[in-house]
Amino acid sequence: MNVLVIGGGGREHAVVAALAKSPLVGKIYCMKGNAGIAELAECVDVDFMNSAAVCDWVAAHKDVGYVVVTPDDPLAAGLVDALEARGVRCFGPNKAAAQIEASKSFAKQLMKKYGIPTAAYEVFDDYEKALAYVRGGKFPVVLKADGLALGKGVLICETLADAEAGLKQIMLDKAFGAAGSRVVVEEFLTGKEFTPGEEVSVLAFTDGKTIVPMIPSCDHKRALDGDRGLNTGGMGTFTPCPFYTKDIADEVMNKIMLPTVAAMNAEGRPFKGVLYFGLMRTKEGMKVVEYNSRFGDPETQVVLPMLRTDLMEIFQAVTDGRLSEVNVEWEEGACVCVVLASGGYPQHYEKGKEIAIGDLGPDAFVYHAGTARKDGKLVTAGGRVLNVCAKGRTVAEARAKAYAAAEKIQFEGKQFRTDIGIKYNAKG
Ligand code: AMP
Ligand code: GLY
Repeated sequence: MNVLVIGGGGREHAVVAALAKSPLVGKIYCMKGNAGIAELAECVDVDFMNSAAVCDWVAAHKDVGYVVVTPDDPLAAGLVDALEARGVRCFGPNKAAAQIEASKSFAKQLMKKYGIPTAAYEVFDDYEKALAYVRGGKFPVVLKADGLALGKGVLICETLADAEAGLKQIMLDKAFGAAGSRVVVEEFLTGKEFTPGEEVSVLAFTDGKTIVPMIPSCDHKRALDGDRGLNTGGMGTFTPCPFYTKDIADEVMNKIMLPTVAAMNAEGRPFKGVLYFGLMRTKEGMKVVEYNSRFGDPETQVVLPMLRTDLMEIFQAVTDGRLSEVNVEWEEGACVCVVLASGGYPQHYEKGKEIAIGDLGPDAFVYHAGTARKDGKLVTAGGRVLNVCAKGRTVAEARAKAYAAAEKIQFEGKQFRTDIGIKYNAKG
């Protein structure tokens, strides 16, 4: 079967690479793709935020039997609904289910209603009321723009002055656009042994009945070593997560994953696709920091390379509601992903810098994020440029191989963190 994948970053490259290994998959198209994806798929230059244009393209390509919608924006905009209305089989939640990511206030109310552990919170549409609330509250306090904000709509405010400035930035100055018309004010969660608490991302396949967690991974959201600097889309990941024991996995399954699937069903919004649980280990146990309605980026770049089972088989089982019949298996060992970014990211950066990849050595591989071909040459085309990944028996081994490969790649302004895979692992 020929498949269309929507998106064009490192995560989509990892999805396309996994699908390319499947005997069930024929030709792969990617809308809009990038220079790395172009080696495995035919890239299609149609705006995927224009549902009608995507539906027209699919109607004109009768050979395409399945569409994988990966990014948050088209899911929130209802691309799956539009395609399914035309009889196209898809992987990804519909618009009603994607609200679990698209509206933080929806997600918080869902968790409160169904007793799913998360930080205490209040929701405000009114700036003055929000201001009065934070003036009477504790610090630090967490402010979240309600809508989608490229992973950047969260402010951790240490003082009242920070919180006042933050509320103004989100609600009045609309620093995150319309996403900030409503704000969630949240209790700051602290860790069991550390402040802040240890965090883990667990992605899970679900068909709305069965939920199958993938291997856990850890993201590094800040731009600089030691979790300093600005928040980014993610600067690197590793799997497995050393503190995520069998006991914790069981707690998460029973108190968070199964109740979330049941809650979405009870709300008349059955969720089919990948449900992403951003979790924190706190004094009171595991709590949900955020839900995403999709594969994480760059978590997917370390998780999918470890998947033994055919990804297309899993996708189809999710679509057909028979995920319980599939045995999802994983390789032993570890995988590390180091993001190579353009100089200046996440703020201003230049594009169009020539990239030299060369021979990366054993066990290392690259997923492209922001790359393009210009006059036949590979050039930078985004903030996050390449994801350099490597597998190993341990995180330390995978990390050494990934960094050796990262050093070999050259482009002007190349910037990356040097401490991916150290946190949590340092304690053994
Ligand atoms: P989010 O985009 O919701 O994942 O938030 C970004 C980051 O902010 C998370 O990875 C956490 O490190 C931090 N964070 C979010 N909410 C809280 C909270 N209630 N308490 C402490 N840290 C938080
Ligand atoms: N890595 C976090 C995300 O995909 O939102």
